[in-house]
Amino acid sequence: MISEDVIYVGNEKFVPMITRDQINARLKELGEELTKEYEDKFPIFIGILNGSFMFLSDLLRETPINCEVDFFKLSSYGDRKISSGNVKLLKELNADINGRHVVIVEDIVDSGLSITYIEKLLEEYTPASVKVASLLMKPGSLKYDVKIDYIGFEIPDKFVIGYGLDYAQKYRNLGSIYVLSE
Ligand code: IMP
Ligand code: MG
Repeated sequence: MISEDVIYVGNEKFVPMITRDQINARLKELGEELTKEYEDKFPIFIGILNGSFMFLSDLLRETPINCEVDFFKLSSYGDRKISSGNVKLLKELNADINGRHVVIVEDIVDSGLSITYIEKLLEEYTPASVKVASLLMKPGSLKYDVKIDYIGFEIPDKFVIGYGLDYAQKYRNLGSIYVLSE
């Protein structure tokens, strides 16, 4: 079993940063906001795989409205902690979003490259509106001009894992968020 307080990956040490209770409380608030905004709009939530899977599923349980769900899959960081700086589309949308209200759901916005890439893609499909929800955001790392409409938590410019976020594809199943301590 993975330890619950400190996680070692080789000699790198990860410590707790955001607890499951804190996440749950914030998801309730975000769910209420989304419910108010989208109740009569039959929105489509588009998760960005893989990182958003846990956030998306828990967030939508707090958003009891008529909606649809679809996914894009983007290439990841690979096995490293720093973005390669380019994005590849690994899975296209299946839904027709022409004229639809879209909410992009991300695990974390770091440089903003992935969101910028997705927003450009979506323009071609002429949705009625596009907003972005991200569980985490690192304002200190932003390199692209992006607007995040629903932010779970702003965090310092440090590498984090858990609750969907991986390190070399591992640790996505942790129920809370851990940060690399230097
Ligand atoms: P961006 O394109 O630079 O904004 O990076 C966004 C993507 O990089 C996210 O969807 C994550 O998959 C990944 N990412 C960014 N920061 C972290 C982190 O601290 N831990 C794990 N993955 C991260
Ligand atoms: Mg991601």
